[in-house]
Amino acid sequence: MTIRKAILPVAGLGTRFLPASKSIPKEMVTVVDRPAIEYVVREAVEAGIEQIILVTHSSKASIENYFDRNFELETTLEQKKKFDLLKEITEILPEHVSVISVRQPQPLGLGHAVLCAKEVIGQEDFAVLLPDVLVKSKENTSDLTLMIDHFSQRKHAQIMVEAVPDHMVDQYGIVDVAAAPAEGESVVMQGIVEKPAVGTAPSTLSVVGRYILPARIMELLENTPKGAGNEIQLTDAIAALQLEQSVDAYRMKGQTFDCGSKLGYLKAVLHYGIEHPKLGNEFKALIQELPL
Ligand code: G1P
Repeated sequence: MTIRKAILPVAGLGTRFLPASKSIPKEMVTVVDRPAIEYVVREAVEAGIEQIILVTHSSKASIENYFDRNFELETTLEQKKKFDLLKEITEILPEHVSVISVRQPQPLGLGHAVLCAKEVIGQEDFAVLLPDVLVKSKENTSDLTLMIDHFSQRKHAQIMVEAVPDHMVDQYGIVDVAAAPAEGESVVMQGIVEKPAVGTAPSTLSVVGRYILPARIMELLENTPKGAGNEIQLTDAIAALQLEQSVDAYRMKGQTFDCGSKLGYLKAVLHYGIEHPKLGNEFKALIQELPL
């Protein structure tokens, strides 16, 4: 079973990233030299995804434009013989990958956003990647690739998790597992709950924002009532799925950066900056010069 389609919900207004997100989609804020969303799309493509489905909003057209060709710019760069730059902008997406978008007409929650892509998904199993979170691999094989491998072998939906401090459990989906899996391993979960109050959570393993789900989840989402925050929660549909079939928590190996928050974003710029193939060394030197 290969996973070809990935849903990226990008309709959210990004209030945690104001004032920047007043007129720029938060997904288009640059991490070093490219928009945050490009890292997420690249993560999906490297894991074998061929169709990216953006669930979007009227204010987010610049995301679609970024993944489209820009004929005027390409012609100008060609005339000026700026072939390096031309290559950079035309190679953002490999040719076999397509990006399509559907609208989320009302902000009714993450579960509702995923449901908006139902017709495009059809009967296929699929991935969901939340673009606020960047996932940086520790090794050559990414966590998303490993999740897809586990999905193919175990035939269980996979939910990526990482441990968070006790006092932060109320910001995430939290899974219930008999014993926490080792990094890079999957284990069948007993339950999953959205944003439990501190002191009531079944564990400290939080849902990171990477999911491999069966097409069946769409039917469950259609019948999912509003939950935490008065929104239709993907977490609640996963809890319903888990009553019908085994669902795994996959414990990630890599590192996450929450680019929906300002500090998480700054941290991402530092980490991706020092590893940038062209800018990394000079950027490190700049950091060392800082009067801290
Ligand atoms: C969403 C999910 C939550 C998950 C989180 C990861 O919440 O509902 O389960 O832990 O993303 O970032 P949100 O951050 O949209 O409130």
